[in-house]
Amino acid sequence: MRKVQAKKRIAKLKKEINHHRYQYHVLDRQEISDAALDSLKKELADLESEYPDLITSDSPTQRVGGQPLEKFKKVEHQSPMLSLNDVFEDKDFFKWLERIEKLSPGNKFDFFAEVKMDGLAVSLIYKKGRLVQAATRGNGLVGEKVTSNIKTVESIPLKLRLDSLDNKTRKKALIHVEVRGEVYMRYDILKKINKKKERKGENKFANPRNAAAGSIRQLDPKIAASRKLNFYAYDLVTDLGQKTHQESHKLAKNMGFPVNPHSQYCSDGQTVIKYHKKIGQKRKSFPYPTDGIVVNVNSISLFKKLGAVGKSPRGALAYKFPAEQATTVIKNIQVQVGRTGVLTPVAHLKPVKVAGSTVSRATLHNMDEIKRLGVKIGDTVVVEKAGDIIPDVVKVLKNMRSGSEKNFQMPAKCPVCGSQVIRKKGEVAYYCPNQDCFATLKERIYHFVSKKAFDIEGLGPKIIDQLIKTDLIKDQSDIFSLKEEDLKTLERFAEKSASNIIKSIENSKEITLSRFIYSLGIRHVGQETAYLLARRFGSLDNLINTKKEELENIHDIGLVVASSIYNYFNDNKNIKLLKKLKKYGVKVKKSRLKNKQNLKNKKFVLTGSLEKMTRDQAKTEIRKRSGEVSSSVSQNIDYLVKGENPGSKFEKARKLGLKIISEEKFLSLIE
Ligand code: IVH
Repeated sequence: MRKVQAKKRIAKLKKEINHHRYQYHVLDRQEISDAALDSLKKELADLESEYPDLITSDSPTQRVGGQPLEKFKKVEHQSPMLSLNDVFEDKDFFKWLERIEKLSPGNKFDFFAEVKMDGLAVSLIYKKGRLVQAATRGNGLVGEKVTSNIKTVESIPLKLRLDSLDNKTRKKALIHVEVRGEVYMRYDILKKINKKKERKGENKFANPRNAAAGSIRQLDPKIAASRKLNFYAYDLVTDLGQKTHQESHKLAKNMGFPVNPHSQYCSDGQTVIKYHKKIGQKRKSFPYPTDGIVVNVNSISLFKKLGAVGKSPRGALAYKFPAEQATTVIKNIQVQVGRTGVLTPVAHLKPVKVAGSTVSRATLHNMDEIKRLGVKIGDTVVVEKAGDIIPDVVKVLKNMRSGSEKNFQMPAKCPVCGSQVIRKKGEVAYYCPNQDCFATLKERIYHFVSKKAFDIEGLGPKIIDQLIKTDLIKDQSDIFSLKEEDLKTLERFAEKSASNIIKSIENSKEITLSRFIYSLGIRHVGQETAYLLARRFGSLDNLINTKKEELENIHDIGLVVASSIYNYFNDNKNIKLLKKLKKYGVKVKKSRLKNKQNLKNKKFVLTGSLEKMTRDQAKTEIRKRSGEVSSSVSQNIDYLVKGENPGSKFEKARKLGLKIISEEKFLSLIE
């Protein structure tokens, strides 16, 4: 193509790509598929590489910067990036309201209330409509210039959409625009990143906020790009003639910035309280973290008049949700021995209320984490709870020390069986190597009989503990040699349940390869990896006889995991166990998965209840055929299977224009 034509084509491509970015990130609509958009991007990149002098800084190809940055430059903010005062209760919100009403007598206040996202504040500066600088908040006056990393965030426009503005506003916007907002990471993205980190044996991110901040504040834009961050604008700093905060949002949206759709105009204080309550309930279904609402005095002139106290404007307030952090004292640190023998230090706490429930234990993960935190027994610490999981210790308040705090040391011997504790080279965990250790044995057996493994109904922890203590079972395989009489000898055992358990043991003997692999409880091998191995090897023998290199070459399996699998199948004890299982009649079905790959790389989301099978069964069927199951709807989903009473996923899929199929159609795919 000649240069003149290329120039025209490049301009068209940029416009088109930007249009779809706006549709997707700002309007939640999708007009063309990801693949189609990718091919537009590719054409643009090809043309630009042919005519490099036609590359401009706002081209969609310039999102992934090339060279890692040397060091972030410091930039002074044009106006300070303040922070907000917090309140936690209605009465304190009303105190704030009273105070500002007193400060501007005769004025009636109305508000614009929005969701307070828990991410990283950034300032974006546009000149001539182009993004020229992005900076972190820093100390409020001086931040770090992170333009290259910010450019990788697709929801941030590199070029403003100015066509929709009236002439006067457009002229102003062309000179200079500053928008501030929050860069955040969705939970599902964090989960994926942490899974990857775990596979590689790296330290995981503690929460989406740390992950977002860590991704923006590292030097290689390629890493930032891989983190799939998102952005919501919350303030238009530049005066483009807007009179209210609500208008600022509207203008920002028109210029191409995503704004949080849950924001709301509130005519008075009571409406703000209702909004706080509503978001407090809704936030559980938000795919990103939130820690409160932000209430802004809607009138910009009143907001300005109110001024600031210290680092906070008087005209805005953060009304936070109940704390998910609290401080307490570590009374003791004890280790727990898990299924694979890993010793996990657990902090026993002075009970404290966190986000509505009482917490008395928190995980300290491993020795590296204890060192990183610098935690000692007796320390006052900050604990944090996210969701239903066991709380984390996130910080030590070292100023609170009295001098009587004690260092914790990993015990040299397993607290349960007394074996010498070991630490493998390159791994952070310490563990008990004794396969017969009561702690690891019972955990291994709980796992072996669990729903996703052999699924032996009725064989619960209490019975298993007794069976081990009375020497009736010494490993997983002994379960299959149990007789009704054995069970009846146990304390308080009814005849009927004994016969039922024996029946369900018998029924479980025939098992799929992926379940079987999972049931063995190999370190680092969860359900997903078990599926992957079953698909790849097709039979247990193939897996047992595989070479280490072959495992290492499997995409999605890291070196640490590969060597854990290899070591497992090359350990005499485990080989003996496998032989015993076979002898007792356990039949591992050859995987048909190897040949049936008709759903390869297809991504499914399930919603609503299915008639012919449970959701778990449907997931198994998809994975069997090399498909993938996702728990959240995004543009890269191939099918949404819609059951009875579908949830919000259905709505979202419809909005995105995804392919929605009925149960019947789904059944035909897996037939
Ligand atoms: S308004 C004066 N609106 O919360 C600061 N902030 O301390 C004006 N945040 O660092 C901020 N969501 O990064 C505002 N919808 C929202 C927000 C929000 C999150 C963050 C912001 C700031 C902190 C407030």
